[in-house]
Amino acid sequence: MPSSPVIARTIPALRRALDGFRAKKSTIALVPTMGALHDGHVSLVRQAKRHARRVVVSIFVNPTQFAPSEDFGSYPRTWKADIARLKAENIDLVWHPDVKTMYPEGFATRILTEGPATAGLEDRFRPHFFGGVATVVGKLFTQCRPDFAIFGEKDFQQLRVVTRMASDLDLGVKVIGSRTVRERDGLAMSSRNVYLLVEERIAAPVLFQAMKQCAQRLRAGDDVQAAMAGGAAMISNAGFAVDYFEVRHAETLAPVASSAERPLRILVAARIGKTRLIDNLAV
Ligand code: PAF
Repeated sequence: MPSSPVIARTIPALRRALDGFRAKKSTIALVPTMGALHDGHVSLVRQAKRHARRVVVSIFVNPTQFAPSEDFGSYPRTWKADIARLKAENIDLVWHPDVKTMYPEGFATRILTEGPATAGLEDRFRPHFFGGVATVVGKLFTQCRPDFAIFGEKDFQQLRVVTRMASDLDLGVKVIGSRTVRERDGLAMSSRNVYLLVEERIAAPVLFQAMKQCAQRLRAGDDVQAAMAGGAAMISNAGFAVDYFEVRHAETLAPVASSAERPLRILVAARIGKTRLIDNLAV
């Protein structure tokens, strides 16, 4: 029988709930989210359950990772549906602070990210992004002190950044990446897919198709630059403006000169209408 999760909105309420778990020596897995939950998030929750006795899901639309021109105000907020989904998954605790709890008056600290955060991918187009993500995830980790934290591979650079940060700052959290969940036509699930107009949604699977084609070329030993240019052209012919279509080393995110420098990851970001999509694929 699914039971409703405890919902903590303040730091003392969060501590009380977590102290209860720790008193029973339960391991804790955290799934950080911004809400608007879809099947991709559900798969993160299920992964969390495989690792720990207790599962905490945070829902917080983090203002510091949005530039003023971006969609903080219009980011989908679907609280009731989110709680219904989490109840069906039998999770233990939802951490749902408001902005003042996370960033009280006078808040003046920000985690400075380097390494994978400066790989010239998302950071080139969203320079504010990883500082905001690292700061909020650093706070979530110190607030919840989980044993494990589960992040989607869909935000691959983000996964590398938070993994590096948890290790660099000795936060004692094992960061686990979880496979991207796709729609039947290959589009990666994302809370922002709701922004796509009908024609844009029809075009959107081209990102996955282009990455698959590029992966095939790389496996066949094709030139990296030619494979990247082919992928970018395929996406732009479908009506997207391509921010990047890159083949990188999967661990360091450094550019590669040859397809033999494995493991490789293809990473793409492209815009159509008002929507910006990102995706990636292992080679
Ligand atoms: O991937 C997300 O949903 C967000 O960037 C995260 C990790 C919850 C931080 O706000």
